[in-house]
Amino acid sequence: MNVFSTLKVDLGERSYPIYIGANLIADSTLIGKHISGRKVMIVTNEFVAPIYLDAMRAALADFETDVVVLPDGESHKTLNTVNLIFDKLLEQRFDRNCTLVALGGGVIGDITGFAAASYQRGVNFVQVPTTLLAQVDSSVGGKTGVNHRLGKNMIGAFHQPRCVIADTKTLSTLSDAELSAGLAEVIKYGAIDSPDFFNWVEANIDALKSRDASALSYAIEQSCAHKARIVAADERESGQRALLNLGHTFGHAIETASGYGNWLHGQAVGAGMCMAARFSESLGWMRSDETQRLGALVRAANLPTNPPEAMRASQFMELMSVDKKVRDGVLKLVLMRGIGQSVVTADYERDALMQFLESDCAVAA
Ligand code: NAD
Ligand code: GLY
Repeated sequence: MNVFSTLKVDLGERSYPIYIGANLIADSTLIGKHISGRKVMIVTNEFVAPIYLDAMRAALADFETDVVVLPDGESHKTLNTVNLIFDKLLEQRFDRNCTLVALGGGVIGDITGFAAASYQRGVNFVQVPTTLLAQVDSSVGGKTGVNHRLGKNMIGAFHQPRCVIADTKTLSTLSDAELSAGLAEVIKYGAIDSPDFFNWVEANIDALKSRDASALSYAIEQSCAHKARIVAADERESGQRALLNLGHTFGHAIETASGYGNWLHGQAVGAGMCMAARFSESLGWMRSDETQRLGALVRAANLPTNPPEAMRASQFMELMSVDKKVRDGVLKLVLMRGIGQSVVTADYERDALMQFLESDCAVAA
């Protein structure tokens, strides 16, 4: 019997559980409860498959299971890759009663969720996240989609999974860089509106980096509880869910400008949060000691705090103008009034943003 904790994303009849614990991939009872039809398509990638596919298939032995193994990496988060899933589903005569299982990191989760949202106008799917980033963030909340060459995550849909199974044991095979990328999103939750959690991450950053099992489990549980609360209150991001994008507007511009996959998403979010804090400080909203405190934690997580040397202010402005928080040409940003006091706002001058970006890019260069 596995020991695990269960959280709930409360969305009425579309509510679903998040299970967090060690060795959960192999638990056939857990996943079995959330599969509706007979046919299951596991979607994974060429890196994850050799490590975890056998255990996943064994857990699904009571179903008719097929597999799509996709190429690995952010550069493959495209419509062409989604089409590979559709090809397999149609070739194997999967009907509307099927279930897709996303086995992998955030890239696999986002692609598979989008395929599930659109195949025959929507089929069930289950998230089995295997990176820290996916366990603390991307597997929860139903944002699915792919990148466009002109903008990150620009093509997508809201489609909630039937459950999330976060097997903490999978984190043992993750590279140090990918572990750090996940820590960026963990830090984000504290920086948004939880000063106590921020303090906890500061105090436990070494334990998290050295993969202390209880520290990681606590961080995953707190992060998922935080995200579940926000998603339950604002599923479609008409308000407070946008807070979860702290650092992301700057970060997405970095990812797009650098070529998808050259900066890990979590690295871009780390630098993006520091940029949001520095811009907030330049507006007189954030004290400099708090900006420095955020920077010190991001650095301690082995993440960058500055934009790429080669990036220019004009590139940021252009890429940020296609952000999903642009409404009628006005870009809302997530800015900070202190650690744990983030706000979604358009209350800044465009010239002030341009000036800030010019000086921030000059410091990085
Ligand atoms: P990823 O999916 O590319 O995974 C990172 C790398 O780790 C990949 O090479 C992957 O194959 C490998 N990997 C996966 N599990 C592993 C394991 N257990 N052991 C060893 N290697 C493993 O990247 P990610 O950081 O998991 O996710 C980033 C993506 O998530 C981005 O595309 C981002 O836009 C998206 N995202 C989505 C949301 C959302 O709400 N939908 C939120 C945050 C991020
Ligand atoms: N990662 C941002 C969100 O899920 O809303």
